[in-house]
Amino acid sequence: MDHVALLEIAEQAREHAYAPYSGFTVGAALLALDGSVSTGCNIESSVFSPSICAERVALSKAISEGIHGFAAIAIVGAPADQAPTEACYPCGVCRQVLSEHVEMDKFEVIVRDGDEVKVCTLADLLPKAFVL
Ligand code: THU
Repeated sequence: MDHVALLEIAEQAREHAYAPYSGFTVGAALLALDGSVSTGCNIESSVFSPSICAERVALSKAISEGIHGFAAIAIVGAPADQAPTEACYPCGVCRQVLSEHVEMDKFEVIVRDGDEVKVCTLADLLPKAFVL
């Protein structure tokens, strides 16, 4: 699947975001090595700390369905009433959580930045990840 197609799936997932507190909605599309795609959106809570990012929703859905091994994740995020134009990279927690499920130097993180599609690896975003 190409980068733009995965971003479009992330954009659809963003429509389901539940973000009444931040007003910032995010969608993610996680491509597994078997070709399947798991989607996620951010889901906030009135007690704040249980809020979860789109990326970890997508990962949790995949792992809970027995899907392991991932090639890429596309992420889009913006204030709820706006189209996503600025790059939305995963937060530090999501980088760390993803790191133990992927090959960091091969796993692609795909974002839109204006009219450009930007691709980097998780290793670029999280050098010296914590390893237990
Ligand atoms: N958020 C994500 O879902 N993914 C990110 O990569 C960054 C932040 C969510 C968390 C919260 O619901 C809202 O965006 C504002 O931080």
